[in-house]
Amino acid sequence: MAASRKPLISGNWKMHMNHFEAIQIVQTLSYQLDENDYGACDVSIHPPFTDLRSVQTVLESDRIPVLLGAQHCHFEEKGAFTGEVSPGMLEKLNVKYVIVGHSERREVFGEEDEMINAKVKAVLKHSMTPILCVGETIEEREADKAQEKIQSQIQNGLKGIGKERISSMVIAYEPIWAIGTGMTATPADAQEMCAFARGCVKDVAGNAAGDTIRIQYGGSVKPVNAAELLTQEDIDGALVGGASLDAENFSRIVKYRLH
Ligand code: PGA
Repeated sequence: MAASRKPLISGNWKMHMNHFEAIQIVQTLSYQLDENDYGACDVSIHPPFTDLRSVQTVLESDRIPVLLGAQHCHFEEKGAFTGEVSPGMLEKLNVKYVIVGHSERREVFGEEDEMINAKVKAVLKHSMTPILCVGETIEEREADKAQEKIQSQIQNGLKGIGKERISSMVIAYEPIWAIGTGMTATPADAQEMCAFARGCVKDVAGNAAGDTIRIQYGGSVKPVNAAELLTQEDIDGALVGGASLDAENFSRIVKYRLH
């Protein structure tokens, strides 16, 4: 991680935890993290929609500096979109970060680059920060097409967005073969791909934006491998799935610099 970029460690809970469980985990987490941790890293958690209001209340009433995040949203303000949640609704809950284009949204729910780009714009319009996810499948990696895939996801995801806004964003590089599988990219591989992703941002938005944007690594990040991944030059944090469901594990990842 370069000194000028504050790392962001994000917990993506996916479809886990009802609102009672969510309150409990947030409280446990708050006992384990201290001022030094919040000074060294930004920490966000991304519970399911049904938990957001409860988690917001706990964070604000107990003054816990964990930032509230969502896992996705629609790109329209409102309308006949059964089951969807708008960016404006998230903003009202003091949501700060929204994951956009997670590989599960792309693969299981058929979200494509054009829709993902519309969501990135909608999130920015509501003064929240998108975490744009990119990553290759194992087949693409084996066919030497990983970089091509990342490049097109970044180019399409950032289309029509101003340089300054791009510089405030987060990109999460998550190789699909490493998500939830226990297989992690080696620190050298992860570094290479995050550096490549940064180069793609520079091509789209210039050197200043590329140097400022934060790039997370995601895919089976755990307490045992967090330090070696997060100390790489171009890795500015982690998007953590499974290991974020346990407050102890997640806080150990946040404290990676102490390992
Ligand atoms: P994982 O998930 O840490 O369980 O591999 C990461 C993610 O999907 O963001």
